[in-house]
Amino acid sequence: MTSEQTTRREFTRQALQSLTAVALIEGLAAHNLFGRDVSPIIDAWFGELHTISKDLKDHKTKDVEFQKSLEGLYKRVDLPSLLKTLDFDKMAAGIEYPEHGAKSLPVDFKNVSGLPTSLVFGRQIFAMKKGRSVIPHGHDNMATGFLVLKGDFRGRHWDRVEDHADHYIVRPTIDAKFKAGETSTISDHKDNVHWFQNEGNEPGFIFNVHVIGYNPDNPKSGGRVYVDPLGEKLAGGLVKAPKISYGKATQMYG
Ligand SMILES: [Fe+2]
Repeated sequence: MTSEQTTRREFTRQALQSLTAVALIEGLAAHNLFGRDVSPIIDAWFGELHTISKDLKDHKTKDVEFQKSLEGLYKRVDLPSLLKTLDFDKMAAGIEYPEHGAKSLPVDFKNVSGLPTSLVFGRQIFAMKKGRSVIPHGHDNMATGFLVLKGDFRGRHWDRVEDHADHYIVRPTIDAKFKAGETSTISDHKDNVHWFQNEGNEPGFIFNVHVIGYNPDNPKSGGRVYVDPLGEKLAGGLVKAPKISYGKATQMYG
């Protein structure tokens, strides 16, 4: 055997070993073994999230009860484990932040085991730069909740007291600081309008779950309604909040 053949054979052997190592690592990740120390906790947490969302969608619980359950579940989360499961550091490293408003990022459940393939809740992560906002909006036929993953927010909510063609009548309900691990929720019946501003010095991140089309008494299909909740003060602490476009809401409050 020539020395060139020896070198080539050695090279091939090493290359195959490297490929095997890569395949092994990818296989381990695919089978969720890296996250074995945290996965059972988070798998159970997501399982519970699915159960309470399905109970709402199946009309077994009222939306205000769902709000309590979701807030309770959010408050019990093992945040470091959730961030690890969501691959948060990798996700946050690659974001191109919009100049105004928030970016909606998909949530990948590749590291979560045991969830049904068809989920009744939607989910996303909002990411925004310092000073930017999840712009003010109300919700039709949607029960939803925020869990701050990272950052320092000012979060405000209003009850939707009346819904007119071109405006809401709203009543302020919550105006508070929200840090990592803190939560708030929304439904047709409670705290329907919200606005979250990132008041910290770093980018901020909010985890969001939503159940759409849960309320048979609301003829409108689920979705956001952009409003100006600082619109026009009325008697008794109420506010006339004009319905505005996404563009205008972003321009005013993004
Ligand atoms: Fe919302």
